[in-house]
Amino acid sequence: MIKVKVELGQNSYEISIGSGLLPRVGLWLKQMGFSGKAVIITDTSVRELNADVLERGLSNAGFTVTVLEVPPGEEQKTLANAGRLYQKMAEAFIERTSPVLALGGGVIGDLAGFIAATYMRGVPLVQVPTTLLAMVDSSVGGKTAVDHGSLKNMIGAFYQPSMVVADMDTLKTLPREEMSNGMAEVIKHAAIKDKGFLDFLGENIENAMSLNPAVLGNILEKNVRIKASVVEADEKESDLRRILNYGHTVGHAVEAVTDFKIKHGQAVAIGMIAAAKISRRLGMLHEDEAIKLEAVIGQAGLPVKLPELNRDEKEKLLDLIKHDKKVRDDKIMFVLLKSLGNAFVSDKVDIGLIGEVLFGWRPA
Ligand SMILES: NC(=O)c1ccc[n+]([C@@H]2O[C@H](COP(=O)([O-])OP(=O)(O)OC[C@H]3O[C@@H](n4cnc5c(N)ncnc54)[C@H](O)[C@@H]3O)[C@@H](O)[C@H]2O)c1
Ligand SMILES: [Zn+2]
Repeated sequence: MIKVKVELGQNSYEISIGSGLLPRVGLWLKQMGFSGKAVIITDTSVRELNADVLERGLSNAGFTVTVLEVPPGEEQKTLANAGRLYQKMAEAFIERTSPVLALGGGVIGDLAGFIAATYMRGVPLVQVPTTLLAMVDSSVGGKTAVDHGSLKNMIGAFYQPSMVVADMDTLKTLPREEMSNGMAEVIKHAAIKDKGFLDFLGENIENAMSLNPAVLGNILEKNVRIKASVVEADEKESDLRRILNYGHTVGHAVEAVTDFKIKHGQAVAIGMIAAAKISRRLGMLHEDEAIKLEAVIGQAGLPVKLPELNRDEKEKLLDLIKHDKKVRDDKIMFVLLKSLGNAFVSDKVDIGLIGEVLFGWRPA
C-alpha cells in the first residue's frame, strides 16, 4: 500500500492507494477515533459493485451503517438531491461526529462532499473514489459542489476530507472510456509539473489502461503527489492552483458547445492540445514537446482534434471561452506551457489568438 500525506496544517490527511483496501476502511476509521454511525453515499451502479464490502468492513468495526444512493450521472449533482439526502440523514439520526463516505466517481465525491461540508455545518468526510478521474483528481483537493441548472459546480465549498482511500481493485469494472477520461487529468498533471512523468506515461499508458498494478500504483501515487503539492501551496485557489486548469478553458467550452456529448476528459484532451499550440504560437514549448504531448493523449484513446463544428458553433465556442469562470477583469486567465512540466497562467491570450489557432480566423 502506498500512502501520500496532504499537508494542510490542521486540515492534513492521508491518501491510501492499493489493492484490497475497501474492507479495511472501517478499521482505519475506528483507529482514527470514530465510532457510532456512518453513512455511505453512492450511486446505484457503484452500490451494486462495491458497497457491500465497504459496509461489511464498517459493521465489523462496530459502526451502524446507513447506505444512501442516487442514480448515476452528472444530472444528479443537485441541491435537490442534497436536500433529499439531508432529510434521510436526519431520519437516521446522523450526528456531527458521524463520518460520511463518498463511494463513487467524481459526481458522488462532489455531491457527498458538499453534503458533508454543510450537514450540521460539517461532518467528517472520507473520499472513496472508484473512477480513475476521482482517484487522480476530484477526491484530492477539497473542492466540493453541486450544479445549479446548467451552471456546473456553482454552489459549493472547500472542504477537506479526513482520509482518501483509492482501492485500485474497483477499477476492474470501470469501462475503458472512463479510464481514458481519467487519463486526461493524469496527462494534464504530467504536462504541467513533470516532464519525466510524461515520458513514463508515453511508455506505460497501455499497461496502466489494462490495470497493471505496479504501473497503475505508480501513476496514482505520482498524480496525487502532484495534485497535493499544488493544493498544499494554494489550498483555496488563488493563483498557483490555477495551473490545474491546463486544457480546461477550451475544454469547458468544447463540452458546453457539444451539449456535453463530448466527455470532460475528451474535451480537456482537445483543450490541452489547443493550449500547447497557443504556447507554441507565443514562442514557448518546443515542437518536439508538443508532438510528444499529442502522442501520449492519442495513446490514451483520447481525441486530438476538435469535432466538426459549423460557423455558429465555432462562434459560440469562442464566446463561451470569453465568459469562462476563470476570466478576471475581462482578461482570460489562460494556462500555457513554457516547456513540458512547466506551466504558468497568462493573461496575454486574447480571444483573437484563440480563434486563429483553433479555426484560422479572428472573431469579430
Ligand atoms: N472536486 C473536484 O476537484 C473535481 C475535479 C474534477 C472533476 N470533478 C467532478 O467529477 C465529476 C466527474 O467524475 P467521474 O468522471 O468520476 O464521473 P461519474 O462520477 O459520473 O462516474 C462515471 C460513471 O462511472 C460509473 N462508475 C463509477 N465507478 C465505477 C466502477 N468502479 N466500475 C464501474 N462503473 C463505475 C458511475 O456510476 C458513472 O456512471 C464531474 O461532476 C466533475 O465536475 C470534480
Ligand atoms: Zn478536469
